[in-house]
Amino acid sequence: MEKTIYAEAIKEQSRGFLTMDTVIGLIEKPKFKGQGDMAFPCFALAKTMHKAPQKIAEEIAVKIEHPLFEKVVADGPYINCFLQKETVSKKIVEAVLAKGSSYGSHSFGKGKSIAIDFSSPNIAKPFSMGHLRSTVIGNSLAHIAEKCGYTAVRINHLGDWGTQFGKLIAAYRLWGNEEDVRKAPIKELLALYVKFHKEAEKDPSLNEAGRLWFKKLEEGNEEAKRLWKWFRDESLQEFSKIYGLLGVEFDSTAGEAFYNDKMERALELLDERNLLASSQGAEVVDLEESGLPPMLAKKSDGATLYATRDLAAALYRQEQYGFSKAWYVVGFEQTLHFKQLFLVLQKMGFDWAQEMIHIPFGFVLKGGKKMSTRKGEVVLLEEVLSEAIRLAERNIEEKNSFLADKQQVARMVGVGAVIFHDLKNDRQTNVEFSLEDMLKFEGTTGPYVQYTHARACSVLRKSSIEIDAGASKGLADEASWAVAKLLMEFPSITEKSFHQNEPSAIAKYVLELSQEFNKYYSQVKILADDAEQESRLALVKAVTIVLSEGLRLLGMKAPSEM
Ligand code: ARG
Repeated sequence: MEKTIYAEAIKEQSRGFLTMDTVIGLIEKPKFKGQGDMAFPCFALAKTMHKAPQKIAEEIAVKIEHPLFEKVVADGPYINCFLQKETVSKKIVEAVLAKGSSYGSHSFGKGKSIAIDFSSPNIAKPFSMGHLRSTVIGNSLAHIAEKCGYTAVRINHLGDWGTQFGKLIAAYRLWGNEEDVRKAPIKELLALYVKFHKEAEKDPSLNEAGRLWFKKLEEGNEEAKRLWKWFRDESLQEFSKIYGLLGVEFDSTAGEAFYNDKMERALELLDERNLLASSQGAEVVDLEESGLPPMLAKKSDGATLYATRDLAAALYRQEQYGFSKAWYVVGFEQTLHFKQLFLVLQKMGFDWAQEMIHIPFGFVLKGGKKMSTRKGEVVLLEEVLSEAIRLAERNIEEKNSFLADKQQVARMVGVGAVIFHDLKNDRQTNVEFSLEDMLKFEGTTGPYVQYTHARACSVLRKSSIEIDAGASKGLADEASWAVAKLLMEFPSITEKSFHQNEPSAIAKYVLELSQEFNKYYSQVKILADDAEQESRLALVKAVTIVLSEGLRLLGMKAPSEM
C-alpha cells in the first residue's frame, strides 16, 4: 500500500517517463539503517531527463509529500522515503488484527485451479528423500496457491505400473509369504525385489518369468491383478503413515496404472494431428525443431511408456479439473521428460500447455554425497520422522518439562523441524541432511520460529488486557518499527513465493520476523504498565498471527506453548 503511494508520487514526478510497474519494480529496500524504508534509484530516469541521477533525486525528493511519509530525501542517486512510523505501524497492526489469518491473502487466483502433481512415490519401494522433498515442497505450494485464491488440486501420481511389478510378482510367488509382507510391506517387497535381481544374475530365466508376469498383469490375469492390487494397497497404507505425520492430504491418488485405459485416446489424438512417426518399430513424436530428442510414445513391442501416461494424465486432468496451471514437483532428473511432455501438448494445439511447469528441486545429501535408495544407504523416512520427534521430546523435557501435551508438541516440533529444514533454502539447492542441526532451538531452524511464536503467545497470556484492534496507537521506536515493517511485507512475500514457486521465500521471511521479534522482546518491556502497553500487545498479537500463518503455509504447526 505504502509502496504504491510512493510509486505513484515518483511516477508523477518523473513526468510519465516510467510506467507504474517499472517504478514499483525499481523501488528497493535500503541497504543500511538510517536510509529510510524505501529507496528509488534514479538511474533509469537519467537518459530521458538528460540529467545526472543525483540531480534528479534532489529535484524530485523535495516535491514528494504525503501524510504517510515522514520525509523524503535525496541520498546520492537515490530518493529515500521515511515512513511516518506511528501512523503506518498503527495501520499495519490494525490490518493484521482485523484480517487475522487471512492477512496476506490475495484474490488473483479466484475461480481458477492449479493441478499440483507432487510426492508421487513408487509403490513397493521405500519412500525416498527425493519423494520427501517433493511432498513437502508440493504441499507448501498448494497452501500458497490457496492463499492466492486458487483452488489447489493435490495429485499423488503414484508409480504403480511397469515391468518391475512382473518381477515382483514372480519373486513373491517363488520366495514370498503373506504374513511377512503384511507385517512390513515395503521392507519385504524391497527385499524380494533385490533378491530377484541377485538371483537373475545367476539364472537369467527369471527375467523371462518376470516379463511373463507383467504381460499377464497387462492382460488382466486374475492372480497377477490381485497381487498387484495387494502390493499397492499395502504400500499406500504404509505411505499414509508418513502423510499422516506430515499432515499432507491428496485429492487424487490416481497413479500411472489409472491411465492404462486412457493412453489409447492420447495416441489417437497424436495420430490425428500427424504427430507420430515410426522409428525402428517404435512410435515417436519428433521434437528436433526444438532441439530436443524425440518423445517415445510407444515401444516396438507395443508397450506404452511413462511419457505416454503423463500425456494421458495431462489430458485427463484438463478435462476433469479444467486447471489453469499445472505444476509438477519432481526432481531435476526428469527435466527433459517434462520439457518433451509440455512441448508435445503444445504441438497438439493445447494452449493450456503454456501454463504447465516443472518445479525441480535439489538433492538430499549426507556428508556431501547424494543419498540413494539403491545401495542400501536409504534412511527410512518414517524412522527419520520418529527420531526427529524423539529428539524434540528430549529438548522439551530439558526446557519445559511441565508442559502439557508434551507428546503432541514434540510431534509438531519434530516434524516441523524436518519440513523447515527442507524449505528454508531455495528449492534448487541441495539439502544437507542433519537431524541435530534441524532440531536446534536457535539459528535458522523450524523449532526456532515455533519457539518464537510460543514466546509471543506466552507474553499475551501474561496480560489480562483484551486487545482492541482500533485501540493501538502506533509505535515509533526503532525496535517496534522493525517488526511492524516486516509485518507490512507479508502480503508481498506470499505473492512472491507464489510467482517464484518458492516456499523458501516464506521460510526466510518467518525467520527474519522471528529475529526481529526476539530483538524487540529483549529490548522493550512489553508488559510495562504505561500508556503504550496495549499498542505493544497489539503488535505482539499481530506477530503471532503472521508467524502462525507463515508456518501454516509451509505445512507446519505453531504450538502456542513449547
Ligand atoms: N513416480 C515418479 C518417480 O518417483 C515421479 C512421478 C512424477 N509425476 C509425474 N506425473 N510424472 O520418479
